[in-house]
Amino acid sequence: MTTLSKKDLISVSLLSIEEVELILTETERLKKCPRNINVLAGQTLAMIFEKSSTRTRVSFEVGMYQLGGLGMYFSSRDLQIGRGETIHDTAKVLSRYVNGIMARTFAHQTVLDLAKYASIPVINGLTDYDHPCQALCDIFTVYEHKGKLKGLTMAYIGDGNNVLHSLVQSCVKVGMNINYASPEGYRPLESVITEAKDVAKTTGSIITPTDNAYDAIKNADIIYTDVWVSMGQEEENQKRIKDLKEFQLNGELMKKAKPDVLVMHCLPAHRGEEITDEVVDGPNSIVFDQAENRLHTQKAIMKLLMAK
Ligand code: CP
Ligand code: NVA
Repeated sequence: MTTLSKKDLISVSLLSIEEVELILTETERLKKCPRNINVLAGQTLAMIFEKSSTRTRVSFEVGMYQLGGLGMYFSSRDLQIGRGETIHDTAKVLSRYVNGIMARTFAHQTVLDLAKYASIPVINGLTDYDHPCQALCDIFTVYEHKGKLKGLTMAYIGDGNNVLHSLVQSCVKVGMNINYASPEGYRPLESVITEAKDVAKTTGSIITPTDNAYDAIKNADIIYTDVWVSMGQEEENQKRIKDLKEFQLNGELMKKAKPDVLVMHCLPAHRGEEITDEVVDGPNSIVFDQAENRLHTQKAIMKLLMAK
């Protein structure tokens, strides 16, 4: 039987197809039954944030409460990590107090090290490399709106960043196709694409890179975009906005898309940069369903990893 009990959730690429399906099924179940079901009664989750967050922080904290447990927020400044205590020692100490760790960090290696030294489940709440909880939530949101996943095509336009890495890894697990349009210098890591192509041989997914937003979106069932300046890249702000301007998701681009295309964005959005108001607030947008589903997906993840 497939189980995620006591495992970590580090990257979608490290989950089996069955484990991804399990998370989606549990999300659907918990969304239908949102009240406190006490499966994590008496349990605690340490939530470590090196970066800002609205959705991830609030949805994990509320999710723990709704499952009967407690989520505790720590900015890295609050912990002795900020004064040089090692990740090794932090992971070992936290393992003596709490039942799970969720971490949002700059370096992906930090989350890998937490998982290596902790004896409790570790959940990746975003790193510079990927954002697995987001992408699993996104796949669930597509399923809710389309009633299926296999054979659908997602088009991602813009910066080939952490969010795109997790989307590529997720699409290939569920048999979705993914087109991505990014200019040179902003493409996803080749290692992510190579590994995803290997999974795609099993599931039938097709991965199509392009440098043209119109080519990417013309046959798409879903169009997805994310900020051009991710957390930690603030110094490159002006250059990124200039280099990515042809990849804006706006009304003109939407005219070339299927009429029933779904528009997705993990948020926060920089309105007027990667997406315009008319699109993010328009009839095709499901961005707030997506934001809500962070809560349901993460409750499912915490239940599967942490319930006794
Ligand atoms: N999408 C997402 O992770 O949002 P936050 O940065 O607000 O957590
Ligand atoms: N790519 C963005 C995602 C924010 C949820 C970032 O890393 O800032």
